[in-house]
Amino acid sequence: MEFMREKVVVFTGAGVSAESGLRTFRDMGGYWREYAIESVASPEGWKANPQAVLEFYNERRKAVLQASPNAAHLAIAALEARFDVVVITQNIDDLHERAGSTNVMHVHGEILKARSSVDPFLIYPLATAVIEMGQLCEHGSQLRPDVVWFGEVLPEDEWNASVRVAESADVFLSVGTSAVVYPAASLPMMAKRRGAFLVEVNPEPTALTEYADEFLQGPAGVILPQMVELVRGVRAIHPA
Ligand code: OAD
Repeated sequence: MEFMREKVVVFTGAGVSAESGLRTFRDMGGYWREYAIESVASPEGWKANPQAVLEFYNERRKAVLQASPNAAHLAIAALEARFDVVVITQNIDDLHERAGSTNVMHVHGEILKARSSVDPFLIYPLATAVIEMGQLCEHGSQLRPDVVWFGEVLPEDEWNASVRVAESADVFLSVGTSAVVYPAASLPMMAKRRGAFLVEVNPEPTALTEYADEFLQGPAGVILPQMVELVRGVRAIHPA
């Protein structure tokens, strides 16, 4: 007899890739401690100095290409053996895919893709580690990274799909995000309102923690492999 598999939606932020050596945004050493958001991650910044914006993302792309999935990414992929899993990530890296997750939604875009700076629907996989000034789309417009900037709306179809996925979760697992950037940060509460059990994994309490049914405090690379062991029935999350 076939049993219905529970649906686990894993919502990730920069913290899940921190143990792969990729910088977060708001922690000590985070990008937004060094760069002004509006200068490198907004349409205004792009208009004022596209070269500087391309350089910022070229450096980040190089870091992503050099990084490898960590124990947290691998544990999330391993959950697929037991659950119906969808990953909704705010991250623009491809570490979930490289770890083996088969159903990954990128609500803030993907750094390994480029798109026309005029038509957001003209998206291209990148064959090179960098986008340079003068690299054009098929209609002659400058290419930019296929990432969402502050002040831009999320691509409508992808966003609507991620809301549907969040609202269908039995368990909603929020990992390594400060949960302060909207609309993405509204997904955990949308899931909870529809009855999902809300679990948060983070070394620090966040805006979400008071609403979590379970707050597992610690690095994702430690907590998530323990969680996978637990669901395999091997040992407890907090061994004595
Ligand atoms: P933040 O930098 O805001 O938050 C990172 C979170 O990861 C913090 O809550 C940390 O405590 C946590 N963290 C750090 N190390 C961790 C570890 N080893 N394991 C688990 N958690 C850890 O990053 P995001 O929440 O991803 O958007 O930021 C959301 C959005 O803001 C990003 O997608 C980006 C940014 O501006 C855009 O660029 C549009």
